[in-house]
Amino acid sequence: MAADKGQDKDMNMAGKVAVVTGAGRGIGREVALTLARRGVSVVVNDVGASLDGREEGESPAAEVVRLITEEGGQAVANRASVAEWESAASIVQQAIDSFGRIDYVVNNAGILRDKIFHHMDPADFEAVVKVHLFGSFYVSRAAAPHFRKQESGAFVHMTSTSGLIGSIGQANYASAKLGIVGLSRSLALEMSRFNVRSNCISPSAFSRMIESIPGASPEEQARNLEMRRSRTRPEQIAPVAAYLLSDAAKHISGQIIGVRGNELYLYSQPRPVRILQNSQGWDQQSLTEQVGEGWRSSFIPLERTRDVFPWQAQ
Ligand SMILES: NC(=O)c1ccc[n+]([C@@H]2O[C@H](COP(=O)([O-])OP(=O)(O)OC[C@H]3O[C@@H](n4cnc5c(N)ncnc54)[C@H](O)[C@@H]3O)[C@@H](O)[C@H]2O)c1
Repeated sequence: MAADKGQDKDMNMAGKVAVVTGAGRGIGREVALTLARRGVSVVVNDVGASLDGREEGESPAAEVVRLITEEGGQAVANRASVAEWESAASIVQQAIDSFGRIDYVVNNAGILRDKIFHHMDPADFEAVVKVHLFGSFYVSRAAAPHFRKQESGAFVHMTSTSGLIGSIGQANYASAKLGIVGLSRSLALEMSRFNVRSNCISPSAFSRMIESIPGASPEEQARNLEMRRSRTRPEQIAPVAAYLLSDAAKHISGQIIGVRGNELYLYSQPRPVRILQNSQGWDQQSLTEQVGEGWRSSFIPLERTRDVFPWQAQ
């Protein structure tokens, strides 16, 4: 493979080993291809799930492995589910068995089961949280002892504006995606003493997940989809993931970076914005005056992603 090793030594990832989950399609596929082009050996994991995760078909992982090996890179296919502890652990074990080590984990596998909240079945909530949040925990947890022992390693997890900002019909997905932010932050804090880093990407890229989002009219939907297809591509996410994994980003951990087309965003993380103390304690009247009215101008509006990003990606 004509190794694109980056310009400085910190971007040189040759000889490293990565697990990329959900790497048969969309963003994960591009991350796997990009890492392989930088000389990383990749476990290309994908269970081959339908968008809602209800069916498992032919895994697209083998095709990605074929592309990587055709270009001269190293990769193995894995079709275990991230959503159960034992099978998730077997993905990391395959990295050790095939390549002798593990350096990077990209938690990317995902499904969607959108439904308005008052109709959301517990099964739909559970399935989505299992793949995204539990899956990210399981794979990270399986890699952690190796990272600790070798005193190096990096995680990248995919979060979403659905959790960071808000969307309709995605209570399951938003809960999982904000949970992933907490998971990443905890990993960053707890594993920094082992030289291990953890960051989140909040991507926006045209994939079958995006195709499933309903538009106002068929014409508007077609127009929107075409715009997004051309301006927000999975291959625009991949270099950011590779950068965050590489030593060039050794000072970056516990962060959330948005990627949409050629635009990047550094997200804020919750901190108190107003503080009050009342030595008498709080009653209905003081709460009404000082919280209900006093803080009114600081309350975060009930915005959705499209209110915060009203412009098309550039
Ligand atoms: N595309 C976007 O704009 C966007 C926006 C926000 C967040 N994300 C996140 O980015 C990630 C990738 O999204 P995408 O758009 O490329 O989706 P995608 O549907 O194209 O790819 C996801 C892949 O995950 C696999 N998968 C599902 N369940 C699995 C399991 N249990 N074990 C292993 N693999 C499994 C699927 O088979 C699929 O190939 C997801 O975590 C998604 O939530 C994407």
